[in-house]
Amino acid sequence: MILIKSAAEIEIMRAAGRVVGQVLEAVSRAVKPGVSTASLDRQAEEMARSLGAVPAFKGYRGYPYALCCSVNEQVVHGFPGPAPLKEGDILSMDFGVVLDGFYGDAATTVAVGQISPQALALLEATEASLTAGIAQCRPGNHLGDVSSAVQKVVEAAGFSVVRQFVGHGIGRGLHEDPQVPNFGQPGRGVRLKAGMVLAIEPMVNAGGYEVRILQDGWTAVTVDGKLSAHFEHTVAVTADGPRILSLP
Ligand code: MF3
Ligand code: CO
Repeated sequence: MILIKSAAEIEIMRAAGRVVGQVLEAVSRAVKPGVSTASLDRQAEEMARSLGAVPAFKGYRGYPYALCCSVNEQVVHGFPGPAPLKEGDILSMDFGVVLDGFYGDAATTVAVGQISPQALALLEATEASLTAGIAQCRPGNHLGDVSSAVQKVVEAAGFSVVRQFVGHGIGRGLHEDPQVPNFGQPGRGVRLKAGMVLAIEPMVNAGGYEVRILQDGWTAVTVDGKLSAHFEHTVAVTADGPRILSLP
């Protein structure tokens, strides 16, 4: 069942999403060669709490950290750790909070120093695919319009869309109905209505779409060892069109 949010609830979700956007902006600025992802995790948690929010992922189904940090061939749900980031790495950071009972969720992938042209193309295509998906978030469109818009941008750039993980509805729950795949057909799936709020989160691989989970039970990596990127926003469907709730 897809829960419709009132205008007042969407304002609370905007406040939650703003914290997420501000935290991701701050930790992104801190990324450089030599910095550990553990330090970014601490920074994210402290900043969210100072802004009156509670990190949403820590303890969620046993996930041990506030921030997901996925480096290079890691797709999502990587653990922050003491290893220093290196020039040329790409780092995906996924963060969520709860504020006044509502969740916000967003992710970004950033360059560590100078990266290869291929890595830069992957980041740009993944972010562009999210933008294309968001643009379809208007009443009367189908969920498949969102999914197919994402997939088209990714595949036109020669990359592939991860199948094993999908976006989701979000509200008083981190994961609500509907699932939001990053692949699909226009005109299919549920019809979007004003008051739906979706976390759209393309995970895009430079090579094949297959992923596997490491022994830690969380870290998803590409099977072929090639790079992966992840961008995410929390987006409200409104009568005026899409409203991104997770901007700083
Ligand atoms: N954006 C991811 C998701 O919606 C982040 C979840 S991390 C977890 O699934 F630790 F909370 F699972
Ligand atoms: Co999410």
